Amino acid sequence: MVGDWRRRPVGRERQVESQVPWSGTIGTRIEAMATTSRRTCVGTTLTEISETEQRIQANGITSRLGCRVNNNGYAKAHPANGHPRFIRESKDEKENRTYPIKLSKYNESFEKVPFITAALTHFGFYILMFLGFINQLLFTPNVAKERKRKGYAPLYENFEQFYLRYVYRRVRDCWNRPICSVPGATVVLKDRTTNDYGWTFEFTGTETKCINLGSYNYLGFAESTGPCAEESIRTLKKFGCSSCSSRLELGSMPIHNELEQLTARFLGVEDAIVFGMGFATNTLNLPSLVSAGSLVLSDEKNHASVILGLRLSGAIIRVFKHNNVKHLEDCLKKAILLGQQNTGEPWKKIIIVVEGIYSMEGSIVHLPEILKLKKKYKAYLYLDEAHSTGAIGKRGRGICDYYDVDPREVDILMGTFTKSFGSAGGYIAGTKVANILRNKHKNTAVHLFNSAFLQTLINYLRVHSHAHSYAMSMSPPIAQQIITSMKIIAGEDGTDAGKKRTKQLARNTRYFRRKLNQIGVITYGNENSPVVPMLVYLFSKIGSVVRTLTTRNIATVGVGFPATPLMEGRIRFCLSAAHTKEQLDYVLKNIEDISGTLGLKYSNKPRDPNPIEYYSDSETE
Ligand SMILES: Cc1ncc(COP(=O)(O)O)c(C=O)c1O
Repeated sequence: MVGDWRRRPVGRERQVESQVPWSGTIGTRIEAMATTSRRTCVGTTLTEISETEQRIQANGITSRLGCRVNNNGYAKAHPANGHPRFIRESKDEKENRTYPIKLSKYNESFEKVPFITAALTHFGFYILMFLGFINQLLFTPNVAKERKRKGYAPLYENFEQFYLRYVYRRVRDCWNRPICSVPGATVVLKDRTTNDYGWTFEFTGTETKCINLGSYNYLGFAESTGPCAEESIRTLKKFGCSSCSSRLELGSMPIHNELEQLTARFLGVEDAIVFGMGFATNTLNLPSLVSAGSLVLSDEKNHASVILGLRLSGAIIRVFKHNNVKHLEDCLKKAILLGQQNTGEPWKKIIIVVEGIYSMEGSIVHLPEILKLKKKYKAYLYLDEAHSTGAIGKRGRGICDYYDVDPREVDILMGTFTKSFGSAGGYIAGTKVANILRNKHKNTAVHLFNSAFLQTLINYLRVHSHAHSYAMSMSPPIAQQIITSMKIIAGEDGTDAGKKRTKQLARNTRYFRRKLNQIGVITYGNENSPVVPMLVYLFSKIGSVVRTLTTRNIATVGVGFPATPLMEGRIRFCLSAAHTKEQLDYVLKNIEDISGTLGLKYSNKPRDPNPIEYYSDSETE
């Protein structure tokens, strides 16, 4: 595609183009356009952006008078504009495209894997695959096989079958581990054993109590006693488990309205809508907001629920490099300049989709810079706060609180109640954003109806969201757990218990991350992120670390290919306000111990020779 710009993509090429980030510099692209196309479009708002764009405008492609501008600030070329002569962005201009904020809030580390480890990881993986093939050839397993039906293609993917049976099976005991307690600071694992190398498991009848670093219990609200549990039990007795209906029909209870008002107040926006499942909040609402003709710029590390929702929407998806604001800006510029890929028509809307804290990377979104971009280019911003709401920010209100940004600047705030609130479900919250809806049902009865009565994002979703109309409403005791925990975090219960929890989490996070760095292991992400990925690289090491830590009564989660790049196998620690310093010290002592024997001290960063302090209240402010 990059080589021959004039040739329009066909068939699969079109799909591929919609999925991969664009390559090549904007300058070369613009020059190519100049020689080939009269359908060039430039946004008038671009003229306010940088010198480069002013030069583009000066070339006479477009002017404020000669353009039709749509909501994204994208304008169609005036037919009288003639052939433009674009100018390449100079080296100086490129270098001067700075993003000024360098705060401790951006203090992130993604240390490169040492070359020898990279080579060994690849080599180790290929040996596993090779042994797997031999195994498959020589020892046919006594497991269910897909029957070969004449004339039918296999229903299941062969490679997946192979991978699950001969590669993943070797470490299968490290995943899907049944638990039989509340996932609090400690968790009880149900012990299993295998007598056939991981094909099947049997319960031994024993249990193992472990320090829990695997659950997303950031603020420690996963509890079976205390105010949340007590009030949920009271609500259960009053309303039962389920409304047995969707919100649109007979499933709306006062508790849902109470939760929505509380959520909006908590987040500092006008309104909110809640759903019974966090995953479905993304998957079923994104298709209500974007559709064919819309462009989505999606961070490459976005969660599976976001990806699925975007695919369902039919919008064109372009992926930008993780947290890379420069790349995002390039994608925005190109999108606005070129318009829709087949027709050159303006995009109906452009929406940027990011997460607050990325759960596999431990990184935090560069929100202030992305907000600047979204305003500059008149794009919308969808922020998934599944891991950040409650867990970060001085008042535990999430990413906007963390950066001290007005939450009303984010068009669509999404989050889940499964992590910091120890419950289930998700929300979408926002303020009046009528524009995003304008083009969806343009010139239809729905559009007229909307513009007359339903000018807010949330009201729109109350009508159009499949999760609201067709899925069961949130279970009342689940809603109560969120209400009680949210009130505690916000201090609406009249105590400072919530504040103590957010501070404790911040303190545990800093302490744990700094101690790990001192040990010499590589960790990814932001120093304020309670998700802490520790890189172990090799597939076999994921298994060894998880197993060894379990024998020492520490429960963690390993993550490897295909959930991460092949090279980047890791152990993911999730910190909680419920953890005590003694528990963290015990875990750290064991990590130090096994990182010597298993060779996990990959880091080349200088280590702090001084003892790491467990922060006081004032330092975590
Ligand atoms: C970023 C993100 N969004 C959405 C979800 C889905 O939420 P839930 O697990 O509450 O269904 C997750 C799950 O971990 C997530 O990490």
